[in-house]
Amino acid sequence: MTDQANAIFNYHQRTKHQLNAYAKGPESLDWEDQPKPFRRFSGCEFIRFPMPGKEIDCLFEALDQPALIAPQPLTLDTLGLLFELSFGLSAWKQFGPDRWALRCNPSSGNLHPTEAYLFSALPSLMAPGVYHYVSHDHLLERRCRFDPGSNLGELYIGLASIHWREAWKYGERAFRYCQHDIGHALGAMSYAAACLGWSIELLSETADSDIAHWLGLDRQDDFIALEHEAPDLWCRLRVSDDCSQSFDPAILTALHDSAEWFGKAEPLSSRHFYHWPIIEEVSVQAQKPRTSAESFQLPTLELPAPCLNIHASRLIRQRRSAQQFNGKAEALALADFQRMLAALLPNAKPPFTAWNWSPQVHLVLFVHRVVDLESGLYFLPRDPNAAQELKKAFSADFLWHPIEAPFEFYQLTVGNIRQAAKTLSCHQPIASDSAFSLGMLTRFVDNIDAAPWQYRRLFWECGLLGQILYLEAEVAGIRGTGIGCFFDDAVHGVLGLTDNHWQSLYHFTVGTPLEDQRLQTLAAYAHLDAACHQ
Ligand SMILES: Cc1cc2nc3c(=O)[nH]c(=O)nc-3n(C[C@H](O)[C@H](O)[C@H](O)COP(=O)(O)O)c2cc1C
Repeated sequence: MTDQANAIFNYHQRTKHQLNAYAKGPESLDWEDQPKPFRRFSGCEFIRFPMPGKEIDCLFEALDQPALIAPQPLTLDTLGLLFELSFGLSAWKQFGPDRWALRCNPSSGNLHPTEAYLFSALPSLMAPGVYHYVSHDHLLERRCRFDPGSNLGELYIGLASIHWREAWKYGERAFRYCQHDIGHALGAMSYAAACLGWSIELLSETADSDIAHWLGLDRQDDFIALEHEAPDLWCRLRVSDDCSQSFDPAILTALHDSAEWFGKAEPLSSRHFYHWPIIEEVSVQAQKPRTSAESFQLPTLELPAPCLNIHASRLIRQRRSAQQFNGKAEALALADFQRMLAALLPNAKPPFTAWNWSPQVHLVLFVHRVVDLESGLYFLPRDPNAAQELKKAFSADFLWHPIEAPFEFYQLTVGNIRQAAKTLSCHQPIASDSAFSLGMLTRFVDNIDAAPWQYRRLFWECGLLGQILYLEAEVAGIRGTGIGCFFDDAVHGVLGLTDNHWQSLYHFTVGTPLEDQRLQTLAAYAHLDAACHQ
């Protein structure tokens, strides 16, 4: 094993929550030092998008067949919708004097480490340059200007993470959550693009150092050291199918060489009291080099129609995490459960059209309340070989009873497993009061041995699946919640896993939500001045 792979295993092992001890984090939360949730660059010109909140004429179920959605023209209005439905605000919540924003993309602890950038070389739309999206004000800050004649006819979107935002609350485990959030953000972008008849192409061959360079993240003087941004993903926006141009990083670098840069990142925190150097270390070890372009041939699966006939844009804006579930609610209809699981299988639809690799994540389900399905532990393989492999790795006591369903699905145990689900997910009742919760089991050692940066990719895949579950839960008329807090090795113990070949990297829960009546919900963008966003 290489030193790099070793460093990653050590990080992973050390940031496991154990039943008798949580991973290292701050002893108390320094609320005065809470990082600001919205990054601003001072000294930049900006472009306001037109007023957000428009409904797009596309039903959620139409996203099952994205090729049939007529592409919308690319304008500032439609591009604004793409950013809004991916990263924009979806509401404000208020409790007493406290007020906080929710966004279309979820984030562990609502801390939102993900920052989004537009790399535009399309003078007909806006002056060529690199722009930073500010979700609070629904505008783009111009970080740099390219030669005004630069015309590649293309738009790229880059994602980066401010690890400090997440580490402030979660300490050493925060690096994992930043990666989950990137997966959610990629999923959110893929769904949003599909609503407009567009798609997101993940240019996964790109090196982190190139992303950092093109977005100006390596301009050290523009950032406070503890609040720098780590590059994550590089995507091309495909507005029509005929942009089949191959991707040439050298052209982007040449554009960048002509750039004039503006602005500095405003500070997010003042004190940075706690330091988590392990995050910087693992971030360096898990850096992605330039690789060859990869793609995965997606099958076309027909999904059963969802039960709600709702606009996709509306559904995306109403997505929320349930804070509590009604443990006495009616059981979930089997058809809804099956649609949700079928939607997690690789398929030529968003968000998988923005994913380039074969599935490395399979699901272990804690089924509590689903009509015509006994309570118990179940297994959903996401590729045809996983069940055979996991039969050897899992506890010999499991039943492996095939369940009749439109996909491969097994019952492993029979009986009430609510207590186990709750205990394993850091004693959180959201894992047991729901209709079902689940653990995402990933092929671990092989991936990290093959390429250490794939550690991050495994979390991205989990986040992508989480984003599907969030939206599919809404369309089934219920709600989901991501669960980053679970006792890693206790989960592996229950499954009978004894080594690092498989690891659970993310949990999720879906059920009938209980609303917290003490919270007030306010409109997402009432604070914007419509006259400025024409
Ligand atoms: C990676 C990730 C991990 C999360 N972990 C938990 C968790 O362990 N417990 C919980 O109650 N919520 C968890 N959440 C839900 C977040 O707290 C929620 O997304 C955030 O507060 C924003 O609210 P929203 O999803 O309604 O927009 C998680 C979300 C994500 C994306």
